[in-house]
Amino acid sequence: MIETIEFTLNHKSQRLEVDGERKLLWVLRSDMGLTGTKYGCGKGICGACTVLINQRAFRSCQVSVGEIKGKNIITIEGLRQNGQLHPLQKAFIEHNALQCGFCTPGMILNAYSLLIEKPQATEAEILTGMNDNLCRCGAHQRIIRAIQSAAREMRR
Ligand code: FES
Ligand code: FES
Repeated sequence: MIETIEFTLNHKSQRLEVDGERKLLWVLRSDMGLTGTKYGCGKGICGACTVLINQRAFRSCQVSVGEIKGKNIITIEGLRQNGQLHPLQKAFIEHNALQCGFCTPGMILNAYSLLIEKPQATEAEILTGMNDNLCRCGAHQRIIRAIQSAAREMRR
């Protein structure tokens, strides 16, 4: 059923006429051109499609757009502010924490959510918190080092 959906996307108000059952992933990628949100498994398993909804990580392939009315959505395109990369984005670059980059937006947004919830997260907590975001290139060790580095920067 076509509905009017109002929400905030990357710091701007949005108003869409859209089928409320349509998955947020496809609204972002196909309707709004925000291709930083990746399609991996489509089943909630890989984490490639992770976005922030009210500062918490969600898998956009599992969220219907009708569920985001009035909410604040951030995709990887909206993490940079005032022309400055977020500390997590900088740390991923500095630690070379990617190979193909396909998992990277989801990794960064999941890590953001984790560090908002647990700014003092231990290595074990970071490992557990990132365990369900998959990297087919095997960059996990560098990803964890980048998140630890960004956590120190974010605490400062
Ligand atoms: S594409 Fe959504 S979790 Fe894999
Ligand atoms: S860098 Fe290729 S999937 Fe993670």
